[in-house]
Amino acid sequence: MPFNPELCRNESEVESKLIVQYLLPQLGYTPDTWHQEVILGSIRLDFLAFAAQVVPFVLDANSPLSVVMEAKHPKHNLNNHVLRLRHYLTSLNVRYGLLTNGKEIRIYEKSQYDIELVFQCAGKDIETNLETIINLIGRESLKERHLINNSANQISDNSFPSAQSNVGYSQVNLKPELPIIKPQVIQVDSQVISEIKRQDTMKTIAIYHHKGGVGKTTVAINLAAAFSKKGKRVLLIDIDAQANTTFATGLIKFQFEEDDDLKDCNVSHLLEKTDFNFIPDIVRKSKFFNDPEVDIIPSHITLIAKQNNLVQYGASRNRLAKKLEKVKNEYDIVIIDTPPSLDLYAQAALTAADYLIIPSDLKPFSNQGLPSVQSFIKQEINENKEGLGKPPLIIMGVLPSKISTNAQYLKYTFAKHKSVITDRYNMPIMDSIISERTALSACVNRTISVGNMEIPDPKSILDFAINEPSANQAAAEFEFLAIEVLRKMEMK
Ligand SMILES: Nc1ncnc2c1ncn2[C@@H]1O[C@H](COP(=O)(O)OP(=O)(O)O)[C@@H](O)[C@H]1O
Ligand SMILES: [Mg+2]
Repeated sequence: MPFNPELCRNESEVESKLIVQYLLPQLGYTPDTWHQEVILGSIRLDFLAFAAQVVPFVLDANSPLSVVMEAKHPKHNLNNHVLRLRHYLTSLNVRYGLLTNGKEIRIYEKSQYDIELVFQCAGKDIETNLETIINLIGRESLKERHLINNSANQISDNSFPSAQSNVGYSQVNLKPELPIIKPQVIQVDSQVISEIKRQDTMKTIAIYHHKGGVGKTTVAINLAAAFSKKGKRVLLIDIDAQANTTFATGLIKFQFEEDDDLKDCNVSHLLEKTDFNFIPDIVRKSKFFNDPEVDIIPSHITLIAKQNNLVQYGASRNRLAKKLEKVKNEYDIVIIDTPPSLDLYAQAALTAADYLIIPSDLKPFSNQGLPSVQSFIKQEINENKEGLGKPPLIIMGVLPSKISTNAQYLKYTFAKHKSVITDRYNMPIMDSIISERTALSACVNRTISVGNMEIPDPKSILDFAINEPSANQAAAEFEFLAIEVLRKMEMK
């Protein structure tokens, strides 16, 4: 029966008439090979269809075995749902995603960290494009392509390298005669995804500049969230007494001093003692800030008063580096948000870091802080790192941050601003930019009402964008930043 998009008047009709009655049968998915409303950890998919199946179910590095299908209301613009689909495909490692509102059909393919549009047509043209769609995501076509890939991999003895560490989950075994078994429960949580992806040694990045208000905290928290969504095990450390990262990740929910649970258990305690107060004793989970959760070492305003006491002992500035060394198998990436100073806390952060990102609005005042950052690294940090047997700090680059979206600025001034960094200050500039967007402060300042109180309920820009299409561009900039940083650290 031909498909008529006029029949789909709401989301459930797109699901039933287009996906269930038309597309799935045409693509060769029999009812035992697709599932509706599949819950995977915190993700709820409209449809998940399998080219082949085994139990237990495994999502491995580039499994072409499944297709996610998302149905939207015919009045919804599909552009507003791409970010969420990207989140599904990249965090679950599903190769293809079909997005449709009945009027339009799009197919996206997952690349290493992103998704790419590989097919698009109007709903009314689906008949004429059916062959192309079948070639892309039809059941037999996916199976065949997988078999070809698999045998090529066997020749190079390189099949599914990253799936090997998948403890307790058997690898996808794709023999054509394999019986199709309907899985009872498909349970893949974020921890399993991280297990699958773990492959590099822990890398530590400090976000630092001598200028305040340039977006250090904004970059630290959202970059941590973006890495976490890529399946990385992330530790975010706040070592600025202003505790903005601690607030922005939802750890300051208390309204009265007597409820403050951070004062006696925060980052300063890591610097106090060598033989106890290790990272697992201090760490918190950011429950509602981002999905998956990020581990946080919180800060506290009392860091200011504590500093005098700590500086008397030269060893304090090395303790963060030493304590991080003990958790190098627990995390893939550590991000440290720092104060805009030269103090003990800045020393501790940069001594512990492998890489430095310097967010800057590229304005003259910020630029004039760059020479002091350079000499601080040269004279204090690298010497200290050498004493600990650590290589010098790698300056990944100045990251353009809070950049105006004004077309005239971007056209005439921005390029000049960037060239000042490389030419006059002799520092690398990053390819990514973080534009000035209100969504980036709105997601931190969210609250929920509990009784007659307004409780802070901050979200990462990536989670905020799921329900706020206006935040999509800001979220995408952080996705791109995460990709650039991974590439620069030579991490997969
Ligand atoms: N890209 C941006 N777009 C809009 N507002 C931003 C952006 N980056 C930061 N801000 C806002 O600017 C202020 C200072 O940012 P913050 O990240 O705290 O800077 P820093 O940590 O360098 O002091 C905050 O109110 C923050 O919400
Ligand atoms: Mg800050």
